[in-house]
Parts: sequence; C-alpha cells; structure tokens
Amino acid sequence: MSKHVFITGGGGLIGLTLARDLVSHGYKITLFDLAEQFSRRQREVDELVASGAVSIAIGTIMDRWAVTLAAQGCDSAVHLAAMLGVKRTEDNRLLCMDINVNGTDNVLNACVQNRIEHVILASSSEVYGEPTYNPVHEGVETKGKTVYAVSKLATEELVKGYHQIHPDLNYTIVRFFNTYGEGQVAQFVVSKFVKRVLDGKNPQVYGDGSQTRSYCHVNDTVEGLRAILERPVALNRVFNIGNSVEKFTLKEVAQKVIDLVAPDKGLSVEIVPFEESDRTPEREIITRYCDNSLAVKELGLNPKVSLDEGIRRIAASVIHEDWADR
Ligand SMILES: NC(=O)c1ccc[n+]([C@@H]2O[C@H](COP(=O)([O-])OP(=O)(O)OC[C@H]3O[C@@H](n4cnc5c(N)ncnc54)[C@H](O)[C@@H]3O)[C@@H](O)[C@H]2O)c1
Repeated sequence: MSKHVFITGGGGLIGLTLARDLVSHGYKITLFDLAEQFSRRQREVDELVASGAVSIAIGTIMDRWAVTLAAQGCDSAVHLAAMLGVKRTEDNRLLCMDINVNGTDNVLNACVQNRIEHVILASSSEVYGEPTYNPVHEGVETKGKTVYAVSKLATEELVKGYHQIHPDLNYTIVRFFNTYGEGQVAQFVVSKFVKRVLDGKNPQVYGDGSQTRSYCHVNDTVEGLRAILERPVALNRVFNIGNSVEKFTLKEVAQKVIDLVAPDKGLSVEIVPFEESDRTPEREIITRYCDNSLAVKELGLNPKVSLDEGIRRIAASVIHEDWADR
C-alpha cells in the first residue's frame, strides 16, 4: 500500500513542489491550504488532482476540526502552513504567534487523532538569528531576533513536547535556509529582484547589500524532505536543509539577476539606506549561511540547481506580488 502524506500549506512553494515529487515516487497526497492559495495555483493543482493520487482539502490550520478531518487516512504529515515574511509578521506580531503556534498545535493534535506516525515540521534558519558561527550547523545556539523566529522556535518545542506525551508520533524538524523557486511570491528576494528587473526597474538592496545567505532551489529542498520521509535515521532529529555551495551577498544576487534576465536594459543594483526602507538595521541578519553536512551524510542530500539556473526558471514563471489572504 502506498504511503499517504498530509501536507499543510500544500498550495505553497514547497508544498506543491513536494506533492509533484512524491506523486512521481508513488505516494498518495492530501493537500491542505487556503482557498485563495489553491485558486492562484489552479492549473498546477488540477494537474496534481488529475494524477489520481492527490486530494485537496480547503481550510485554515486555525480550524482544529477542519485539519483533523482533512488528515484522515494519512500516515505521515509535512507541516508547512505558516505566516511568513519579515515585514508582514513584524506588522502582525500576535497574529503571527497565533497562526504559527496555535495553528501548529492544531496540526499536531490532528496527527495524534489520526494516528499519524511521523510529522515533518517546517522551521527556519531564522531561529539562529545572527549566528555566533558560520557556516551554521544544527548545534549552533538558537537566538532568533524576530517574532517569526520565536514562533518557529516555539513550534520546535511544541513538536518535541507532543512526542514526549505521544511517543508514537515521531517528528523531524527541518530548518530551511532560503528556499526559492518558481511560483514564490515577490516578497522573497530572488523573485522580488527578478520581478523588478522584468518590469524594467533596478533591483534594490537594503543597507550596503553585503548580507550573505545560501540559496537552495525548491527542487533540492524537496529531495531532502522525501529522504526524511523514507529514512528512519531522520526520526526525532533536527536537520538544516539548504545549499552550502550557492552562497552569495545580496548585491551579488541582484547583479546576477540583471546579467541573466535583462543585461541590455541599462539596469544597475540600487543601494537603499535602511532609513529609506521598511527594514530596520537592528533586525537585519548580516551573515548566515548553511552547513548542510548532516543532511548530506544522513539523508544523501545533494543540491544540484545553481542560483543562475534558478533565476532563469523564475524569470520564465508567474510571479505574484503578495501572499493569499486568510
Ligand atoms: N522558503 C523559505 O525560504 C523558507 C525558509 C524557512 C522556513 N520556511 C518555512 O517553510 C514553510 C513553507 O514555506 P514556503 O516557502 O512554501 O512558503 P509559501 O508561502 O509558499 O507556503 C506557505 C503556505 O501556507 C499557507 N498558509 C498560510 N496560512 C495558512 C493557514 N492559516 N491555514 C492553511 N494554510 C495556510 C499559505 O497559503 C501558503 O500556501 C513555512 O512554514 C515557512 O515558514 C520557508
């Protein structure tokens, strides 16, 4: 019998890409997300449903019963639904805590009610804040600076607590490092730069543009997630999922986008001081990049898509400005 995976946030960037990957490997899937999000990605959702292996459940993770009903018949879960975006979460601090923490509690409760054996929890490299050590491995101290980071840390503790009380519910915590790809909203840096350049505008970097990150294409991220579903060694552990090789400053990313997408339009990287942006220097993380060696060793993670290739793919895709409303 094929494995049946419940994916919350299943209409989002990682969710839809994971669903496609798992279907091609023989899994059955239930995707759970907001109605507006599914309708934005209607064509891809229809293709998945037409495969016969995917069913759609519309709802919010804030509705405890809707999540519980939707997860019926599943044996694993990947919990991706969350409120994200630095500005959006800082502008709505309590709502961010509510959706991310109470929503996760509802999802974990649904896992217990449905006797789900394994839940993968989407956490974030944001939990490391401005790290004391780079590249960041899983043992580096967590010291998130933002409400989003704190909400993700709370969910990490929550899932560990659930496992203590319900030992049959195993977990894996994944800390994603800048996953990007086709279909991502233009609130994320790569899509944002590509959209501006396609619109004939200079890509803007805040501060001096020296902020350094590692960039992982979503196809590589989902390889890691599938390995976690399939390898018992992943149970009840924390993994960084990212691409340790594709590491760049913001300025370098912006320049790459110009060179690859519109080299002849006379565009240049525009430096915007923090005072003129919606970012605050105190919350900015300057240098954080990924040590993925644990995932390479234990999960066989082997990121293949370069940032250059990822930029080309995004330029050929539809880019939405913002998230779906809840
Ligand atoms: N992409 C990254 O770089 C990155 C980095 C760190 C962590 N993460 C985490 O990975 C997960 C997936 O991220 P993504 O990049 O696919 O983002 P995404 O925004 O594309 O997907 C998130 C999905 O959650 C859904 N959602 C939001 N609120 C919901 C609610 N109340 N009920 C049901 N669904 C809801 C959204 O509609 C969206 O489809 C998130 O938990 C995010 O915090 C992502």
